Amino acid sequence: GAEDGYRLWLRYESLATTQAESLRSQARRVVIASPRTATLEAAAGELRRGIEGLSAGAPIDVIDMPAEGPGEGDVVIGTTGGDWRGAPEQTEKAIGPGGYRVSSQAVHGGTYTAVEGQDQSGVLYGVFALLRALQSGNSIDSIELADHPRVGLRLLNHWDNLDRYVERGYAGQSLWDWWRLPDLVDPRYTDYARANASIGINGTVLNNVNAAAEVLTPRYIAKAAKLADVFRPWGIRVYLSARWSAPRDIGGLDTADPLDPAVRAWWAAKADEIYAAIPDFGGFLVKANSEGQPGPREYGRSHADGANMLAAALAPHGGVVMWRAFVYSETDPEDRVRQAYTEFKPLDGTFADNVLVQVKNGPLDFQPREPFHPMFGGMPGTPLMMEFQLTKEYLGFSTHLVYLGALWEEVLQTDTFAQGGGSTVAKVVDGRLDGHELTGIAGVANIGRDRDWSGSDFDQANWYAFGRLAWNPDGDAHVIAREWLQQTFSTDPAFVEPAAELMMRSREAVVNYMTPLGLTHIMGTGHHYGPAPWVDDLGRPEWNPFYYHRADADGIGFDRTASGSNAVEQYHAPVGEQFGSLESVPDEYLLWFHRVPWDYRLRDGTTLWQALARQYDQGVGQAEAMRAEWETLGQHVDPVRRARVADYLDIQVREAKWWRDACLAYFQARSGLDWPDGVTPPP
Ligand code: GCU
Repeated sequence: GAEDGYRLWLRYESLATTQAESLRSQARRVVIASPRTATLEAAAGELRRGIEGLSAGAPIDVIDMPAEGPGEGDVVIGTTGGDWRGAPEQTEKAIGPGGYRVSSQAVHGGTYTAVEGQDQSGVLYGVFALLRALQSGNSIDSIELADHPRVGLRLLNHWDNLDRYVERGYAGQSLWDWWRLPDLVDPRYTDYARANASIGINGTVLNNVNAAAEVLTPRYIAKAAKLADVFRPWGIRVYLSARWSAPRDIGGLDTADPLDPAVRAWWAAKADEIYAAIPDFGGFLVKANSEGQPGPREYGRSHADGANMLAAALAPHGGVVMWRAFVYSETDPEDRVRQAYTEFKPLDGTFADNVLVQVKNGPLDFQPREPFHPMFGGMPGTPLMMEFQLTKEYLGFSTHLVYLGALWEEVLQTDTFAQGGGSTVAKVVDGRLDGHELTGIAGVANIGRDRDWSGSDFDQANWYAFGRLAWNPDGDAHVIAREWLQQTFSTDPAFVEPAAELMMRSREAVVNYMTPLGLTHIMGTGHHYGPAPWVDDLGRPEWNPFYYHRADADGIGFDRTASGSNAVEQYHAPVGEQFGSLESVPDEYLLWFHRVPWDYRLRDGTTLWQALARQYDQGVGQAEAMRAEWETLGQHVDPVRRARVADYLDIQVREAKWWRDACLAYFQARSGLDWPDGVTPPP
């Protein structure tokens, strides 16, 4: 049938004839070696589905371990330390919760394959690792795989409203059919869970951070509980975004003061009620005192007072609070990018043990490029959860091809110098740097009701890459791109290598045609799609694109050095010094940290105006090159997906030009300079 993209990277298409034959002989049955649980059944079912598809073979059996032990061609799944006859010797290889080992074992002159998990989830992850290897063209012969997740909480954040409108969602309505839940259980919920489990995601926040209090009412708790039942076998827990003022909104109290005993009692009772319906409920995500949301500061209390009160309600049940650091206020004269650090830094070390502070990767808001958020490395006494955005709010929605793995790797591998060189953001997030056991990464989901889930074929890669990097924040985005391409489109190296390179370059392309040289937040107001650097008349100053670039006849850029907002002081030495000095600031952050005249000379000798024009033009060239390359690459792809990707790339080329022409025309009007040499003037 037509390729609607529904199967994501779990396609299990038949391998080439000889590979399929060999798989058929080496994967004849699935044998469950531990007591059956819902998770082991799910793992076994997935394995069967995968092997049957890949080997194009007859249906295979799933059986319990027979008394005589495994036979040749069995694929055995179970938790480590199995005492069945012929169990593999224990090695140190599969370590940590969620860890697995997949190995070939000798039996009766032949071999069987063992998938051992450290725990139930480990078995599931081992099965998916095996299927990933097979789909990527590896043989099951002498297979040896072992891995474990480096981060504890690997969560999607759905910005889904209860009326199914998804805030910043570009893939249709919310998957959650709140109206028909809990009675109608869409089979798609299971496929959602399978896809997440396959990349190690182990939790999902169902509703928008701009939360409706109703989600905490009995009707909605029952609906969430039904989703939790569907997800549980796949190792996925449900979390909810809690509206701070819920005790007032739905609880009949006249206050939400976190230190008020009645408020504390209300939340404790609410937690009990939720856990009675969802015994493994994960906890609350909270956006408080941010962009108009209520919060503890209304009562003169701090973010820590607020977080700790909720933490106390959840602690008896093992739940966590993820308290967001995305706060800024229009009445605060401080540079917006400084505000979160200023507010949270003094609270470091005062949060309860089951609180994580969830921080966006940069100090502004999910831009094509931002320096890392200075809270990473600045809050050693607090577990910090990374928040990435999969849905490309500021990067061309689901229309533009932008592989975010490259962006995330750049952030994770940046050195904060918090404890000298090598103190990367990844080490802050996975807890190594400051010795935190509680760790997490969240991704604002790009998933909706569209048949292809993410609104475009290539946006599925962002979901995939998020899971893989949450599993291992030191992962390599290029390797992950290859893996995804092999499973999603084709294992032919003539396709995979150049397509992976195209994906890696796509991030720099969008930076170039939208916000080169450290420009930021010049997207259209409200919707954030398309250029609008000229907007300067909105009520909230920090929502105006002009606030960020300040272009006039003299120059352009935001001075965040000591002579300006001094945001550079929030970074450790030598990072702050590097950003703060024109000698050493990387070109890609120039206008983020500095205001310079139009004739300012970059290190390569070009003037700022020339360089800006060159970058915009280069971005257009890069988009055109992606489109041209797809003509060849697309030949490895089925006609439906080939054409769909091509259509999107046509839009991207057109809109890259729109960005270039609009921004350069505007900046030219501000600067009064001639149209830059070598750049095609707009029609
Ligand atoms: C951005 C986004 C909002 C969202 C907010 C948040 O500002 O535009 O839609 O609510 O981030 O992260 O809370």
